[in-house]
Amino acid sequence: MRLRTRAGLGAIATGIAITLFTTSASATPAPGASGVGDSYYPYAGNGGYDVAHYDIRLTYQPATDELSGTTTIVATTTQELSSFDLDFGLHVDSIRVDNAPAGFRAERPGEVVVTPVKPLAKGKAITVVVSYADTPSKVVIDNYTAWKKTPDGALAVDEPQNSQWWFPANDHPTDKATYDVSVEVPDNVAALSNGTLVRKTKQRAGWTRWNWRSTQPQATYLATLEVGAFDVDQATTPAGQPFVTAYDPAAGASLDAAKASVERTPEINEFLAAQFGPYPFEAQGGVVSTGLNFALEAQTRPVYSDKFFTSGSNTPVVAHENAHQWFGDSVSLGRWSDMWLNEGFASYAEYLWSEHEGEGTPAELAQYVYDSHPADNPLWKVLPGDPGVADQFDDAVYDRGALAVQALRTAVGDDAFFKILRTWVAERKGGDARIDDFIVLAETISGKSLRDLFNTWLFKAGKPAVGPNGASVP
Ligand code: ARG
Ligand code: ZN
Repeated sequence: MRLRTRAGLGAIATGIAITLFTTSASATPAPGASGVGDSYYPYAGNGGYDVAHYDIRLTYQPATDELSGTTTIVATTTQELSSFDLDFGLHVDSIRVDNAPAGFRAERPGEVVVTPVKPLAKGKAITVVVSYADTPSKVVIDNYTAWKKTPDGALAVDEPQNSQWWFPANDHPTDKATYDVSVEVPDNVAALSNGTLVRKTKQRAGWTRWNWRSTQPQATYLATLEVGAFDVDQATTPAGQPFVTAYDPAAGASLDAAKASVERTPEINEFLAAQFGPYPFEAQGGVVSTGLNFALEAQTRPVYSDKFFTSGSNTPVVAHENAHQWFGDSVSLGRWSDMWLNEGFASYAEYLWSEHEGEGTPAELAQYVYDSHPADNPLWKVLPGDPGVADQFDDAVYDRGALAVQALRTAVGDDAFFKILRTWVAERKGGDARIDDFIVLAETISGKSLRDLFNTWLFKAGKPAVGPNGASVP
């Protein structure tokens, strides 16, 4: 922006002025942007650098909700920087950039501006060490606290944001990174996170340190920490991956139903892999907690509210959260408005799993949703392709979103449909993408013009005149 203005001035100025501009522009570093330009969350993520790795090393005391330690960020600058932002809400004690103490200030709740002693060149590898200590349950950002205190621990599980309550980050799904998460907790509780438990050690009486590693690109909101008196089970899938499950004993009467569901995760992932292509990550699992009211597709290890299992087993929710490992975790959102790419496909995966279990087929289930929601039902008001911040998790994104997937299948036929899904997850693995990219791929593979179909199902209010199965109703 600044450079373009100067270039414009240079174009109408004298030769001397142009020379001056060239010299000064290349020697003037700028602050990194305070967001990546996401229209739903203007301050989500930051400009000017790209994170490769987070090394998060913390101590957590459940009795007092005191969280302290250090996060080391390994990143590369993408522009010349006079300062850059971190998305973080806890109290910072110090920040070092490339070993030198840096200036820092909280610009607003959840946003810290870091000013290194010297400007940073473009394309430079940087190491940022942030030391901090705070009580995360007392930290409020945009009238919200994502950190969930439980009687015996806490949960860092939320979407679209949770990292601000436990580690400084470039908090947007377009900047994914690998993670080492090492958390020391009292011996009587577990500390769970993503990926593989690479080490569990005692370093002082009464405390145990849990070291987790997640080796595939991972979005910040999919990084997770659960501390509590979980029953932890470390097993191995038939294919040889670590399979870690953890159950909150407070789930009581629901525990057996939870186990009957979550312990089937490797089988469910095998089924999903047959639909979408190979499981994208190095580990699997699931955590069942009484401390939240939803489920989240934390990478490699979804987290489930015990409430999903109060009336018996619930494998659809396991299929849903694990389908997100492909749709959302491996292929991440380019912008938060692209939520349909996550929830439409995870909801459709429930239909596929239902058919596999000998229950309803996707055509039957989609038709039922269509038929049982009259034209004046709110389901037809929210646009799954651009629901707005307030309706980001509205039923429309999930249910109408799944109907959109079925409508695509009807329009292109099974061969093209599954080829589209598999090509999407193969080509975009580890990256991020937008709804428009999906439409282009679907049109390319099917050889059909699909704009009207996607406009009808994703971007227009009102019940579509023709159902998700077209003329042939199951
Ligand atoms: N992505 C989650 C799921 O559908 C939903 C998370 C809802 N988040 C929330 N804060 N309520 O599996
Ligand atoms: Zn979902």
